[in-house]
Amino acid sequence: MSPVWELPTATGVYRVGLAPDDLGPVLLSWTAPGAEPPDVELPAAAGWDLPADVLPLEYAVLGTRQRQTAELIVDHGDGLLGARVIWDSDGELISHGTATTLRVRAVDTTGRLELELRIAADAGHDVIGKRAVITNVGRRRLTLPRAFAPAWDLPLPEPPLIDFLAGDWSREFATHRLALPAGTFTIGSRQGVTSHSYAPVIAVGTPGGPGYGVALAWSGSWRLAAEVVPGSGRVRIAAGVDDETCVITLDPGESYATPEILGVRAPEGVAGLPGRWHDHQRRVLSRDVGTAHRPIVYNSWYATEFDVRPDHQAALAEAAAEIGAEVFVVDDGWFAGRTSDRAGLGDWTPDPVKFPHGLDPLITSVTDRGLRFGLWVEPEAVNPDSDLYRAHPDWVYRAGDRPLVTVRNQYLLDFGRPEVVAWCEETLRALLDDHRISYLKWDMNRPVSDGGRPGDDHGRQWSVQHAEGYYRVLRMLREEYGHVTVEACSSGGGRIDAAVLALTDVVWTSDETGPRDRLAIQHGFLSAYGPHLMSSWVTDQPDHRDQDPASFEFRFLVAMAGVLGVGSDLLAWTAAQRSRAAELIKLYRELRPTIQTGRVERHGEPAAPVYAVEYGGSDRIVILVYGRPGRPERPVITPRTLQPGARYRVRGGDLIVAAGEPLPVGFTLAEDAGLVVLERVVD
Ligand code: GLA
Repeated sequence: MSPVWELPTATGVYRVGLAPDDLGPVLLSWTAPGAEPPDVELPAAAGWDLPADVLPLEYAVLGTRQRQTAELIVDHGDGLLGARVIWDSDGELISHGTATTLRVRAVDTTGRLELELRIAADAGHDVIGKRAVITNVGRRRLTLPRAFAPAWDLPLPEPPLIDFLAGDWSREFATHRLALPAGTFTIGSRQGVTSHSYAPVIAVGTPGGPGYGVALAWSGSWRLAAEVVPGSGRVRIAAGVDDETCVITLDPGESYATPEILGVRAPEGVAGLPGRWHDHQRRVLSRDVGTAHRPIVYNSWYATEFDVRPDHQAALAEAAAEIGAEVFVVDDGWFAGRTSDRAGLGDWTPDPVKFPHGLDPLITSVTDRGLRFGLWVEPEAVNPDSDLYRAHPDWVYRAGDRPLVTVRNQYLLDFGRPEVVAWCEETLRALLDDHRISYLKWDMNRPVSDGGRPGDDHGRQWSVQHAEGYYRVLRMLREEYGHVTVEACSSGGGRIDAAVLALTDVVWTSDETGPRDRLAIQHGFLSAYGPHLMSSWVTDQPDHRDQDPASFEFRFLVAMAGVLGVGSDLLAWTAAQRSRAAELIKLYRELRPTIQTGRVERHGEPAAPVYAVEYGGSDRIVILVYGRPGRPERPVITPRTLQPGARYRVRGGDLIVAAGEPLPVGFTLAEDAGLVVLERVVD
């Protein structure tokens, strides 16, 4: 077969060839570099199959392929559904430094549609990104009821095991596993945001075999489908913008680029996937991994809710500075009319009643204490009781005459309207130009329920337009206000995905801060997303849901597992608590380079009597140990991130350990909390 294109990653090579009869790019193999490319015999059609039905096509189009899910459905508007596409017999492989990109083009037989497939790899990491670009080159309007990104057609013995993350508000990222003997497993969101229900990332594998991860870099409605045709020995995973709530309209000359779909392979199995995802997030998605954009936050929300008073905030800031916080963030409740969640969203100027002299006196008292200053915003939302809504009632999503629905007493602004996005950019610019703000927590507290724009066919792609408007404003913040750290939030973890991670610095993982529940949420989060992204705060007990007792140190240890913050009412803390907090924050500050950039290994399950999270750096390893009643006195774990051949000394003792040796871990901080630091011995 010719040609064969090779796309090298850090520990793999993705080989793509062209199928006969212009059927387009197919996955030939995905193996370790240097491994002899296997002789690939493409499956031949038999019985009822058409050739395209059985090939591991990179991109399948309905009308060319029938038997399995096709990534693209084209509606010509004249009664014709689907397309027969003819792929070029050559592609373009471009290498630039360590990066390689393959582009292959196709046209459909009516001459109305052009397709381009783009596959990008980099030898610096293991994640491959793919997208398709679809262009209307004809003279009539086309619609795309489905326009997924390219697929991953992976060789896996049946039944593959699928790991996914599912949950709800305050219950995000619960881990699930299923075996799929046949049929299609599908997850997604119709809510206009990534959603709390499912994370757009899955892992597939079989015991003893390689593991594969697939993620969709998209923050609007989406769907992911994994399909097994019995007897095929393959699983095909496809994903894209949700095809139930979204129809793309392409007028002549218009193009649509699908979201990027990411894939990663771990030869050692699915356990090797989290480290590879984290590595990609650190090297590619995050603008940096330093501490400048992941400071230790004090956020006053849990201490004050809407009762925001400048003197009280200044007193909290003083206490926050004393314990070692690095940025003071005033959450909801600072802007005009915001005395409860019933009013104010949309009016992003300081509340003249609460701040008669504006925000500057508070900002000065915060920055005088050596802290940065940050604010909470929810720019996509508007309360009916706001000046913005009174001035622009037409700016909210309205599905025709359907009565408007409020969630948390708010509507959402239609980010498909350029004037709304322009207003959002101007509003944020004014806020940031007028005040010394270097941290924004960007929230989004309801799903889109009334998407659409009667009279505008493109309104059927409101979810695409909304996500693109959101990205545009985030990009503006990056370009014009590079000093501003952005924490992404959507009622906790309602909008976390690779696209958000590329445009923000940290994410608020969940509104649940009860430490034992939070630990479970973080366990799932870390299976796909790195600790340098995971904002986590110590808050006061009792929590509204998680009533299990946990020590002060346990609560710190949970928040120290990522980017530590504090959300407690510091003025209610005793002097002893404040000084203990200062000690723990100092310890965290010393260890955070290892915690935020080390290789993460999770030991056991958070609900077990002993659970540990290990962070392996080049010459230091940090292990956070969490205990429950009934735990063994001195449990033993076998650390997994020691360099082969190296020896490590346990900080505070004489014990020396090497790779593969069990390590007793004690509860050194409290009866339910322990921390072990291993330092590499230089011989
Ligand atoms: C959402 C966020 C919280 C907090 C509140 C404020 O629920 O997830 O952290 O900011 O809004 O209204």
